[in-house]
Amino acid sequence: MAVTKEQVLASLNGVASPGGIPLPQTGTLSEVVAGDGKVFFSITVDAAEVKAWEGVRKRAEEVVRALPGVQSALVALTAERKAGAAPARSPQSVASQGVAPQGGAAHGPGPAGARTGPRGEAMLGVPGVEAIIAVASGKGGVGKSTTAVNLALGLSALGLKVGILDADIYGPSLPKLLAIKEKPQTIGGTRLKPITRYGLTVMSIGFLIDEETPMIWRGPMVISALTQMLREVEWGALDVMVVDMPPGTGDAQLTMAQQVPLKGAIIVSTPQDLALIDARRGIAMFKRVNVPVLGIVENMSYFLCPECGTRSDIFSHGGARHEAERLGVPFLGEVPLHMTIREKSDAGLPVVATEPDGPHATVYRDIAARVRDQLGAAGRAAPKIVIEA
Ligand SMILES: Nc1ncnc2c1ncn2[C@@H]1O[C@H](COP(=O)(O)OP(=O)(O)OP(=O)(O)O)[C@@H](O)[C@H]1O
Ligand SMILES: [Mg+2]
Repeated sequence: MAVTKEQVLASLNGVASPGGIPLPQTGTLSEVVAGDGKVFFSITVDAAEVKAWEGVRKRAEEVVRALPGVQSALVALTAERKAGAAPARSPQSVASQGVAPQGGAAHGPGPAGARTGPRGEAMLGVPGVEAIIAVASGKGGVGKSTTAVNLALGLSALGLKVGILDADIYGPSLPKLLAIKEKPQTIGGTRLKPITRYGLTVMSIGFLIDEETPMIWRGPMVISALTQMLREVEWGALDVMVVDMPPGTGDAQLTMAQQVPLKGAIIVSTPQDLALIDARRGIAMFKRVNVPVLGIVENMSYFLCPECGTRSDIFSHGGARHEAERLGVPFLGEVPLHMTIREKSDAGLPVVATEPDGPHATVYRDIAARVRDQLGAAGRAAPKIVIEA
């Protein structure tokens, strides 16, 4: 029996705000999304009160999870700055200004190379996770998710312990690309156990929310969900966590880049000029938040004829390599446009795992090896990036 929105709200009457008011009467709740055993809503409070509300968020999640018919509940706590209030900047407000915060609260490497968040707070890493890297692009559909999955598998083939996080909350891809249908189990009712596939530790918002569920995510909610996926998931010990980012360089992406303690970013681009302009924007975005760009991957770079093996450069290939040189960013490699990559990807059978001896797996493993080398380099000194604003 599916749980209804009304049942969720009734149960929340038993959860009190820090001021003792029943939660549904506080005016802090978003719309409650309840369907197919999954419940999602957010609590939006003043940025200064976030700490006091964390317990309320947890309680709300527990109460909703205990309802009959509920399989999973995700309650996001988001901070909002009151108009005219003290200068506690919400992540969204920083992002909307389109500039990196300046001065003492700057979001950049601290004395020990640690990054700080948009509010100047030390940006905590994820316990046990050595390096988090983002796979991003300026525009959609260039093959980020395909690259992220095969790169993660390539790093794993090199002997690293690898996790992959689907941060594309608008269009999660990992359930499909890794053919994952099961839901993550909870541990002790509060933490989520990630799914393991092909040796990768996997988490996606898509595991919790169905494709048909209306996407009511807004900027601040996105951040909270992302933070929960980083901190309330038992990632275990990982050498690398690959984050598949949503497309674009808007506020949501910038805020995400600011919120995740990234060691570096990889930009995926197709060879066409237009995509390269977008790639440049992607690079500029990471530069703004002081995340080193580990390199560019040119995807759908050339066409390899499946019959005769002849290579044709259908989109004036090589643009990304040239662009990388111009920007002083490492070039990580080129992935051909090939039906096998597409079919395998879309069937949840990524080539690096299912055709490890094939030519495509070699390409991705080579890229993975360069990424591993760049990660080592990023640990010593961030590569210099020349960029035109
Ligand atoms: N090298 C390739 N050869 C053939 N097809 C590819 C290749 N790379 C990606 N594709 C296909 O292109 C489509 C888009 O790829 P993918 O979903 O990885 O892109 P994306 O950048 O993550 O998209 P979005 O912006 O929607 O998240 C998919 O159908 C995928 O299988
Ligand atoms: Mg994608």
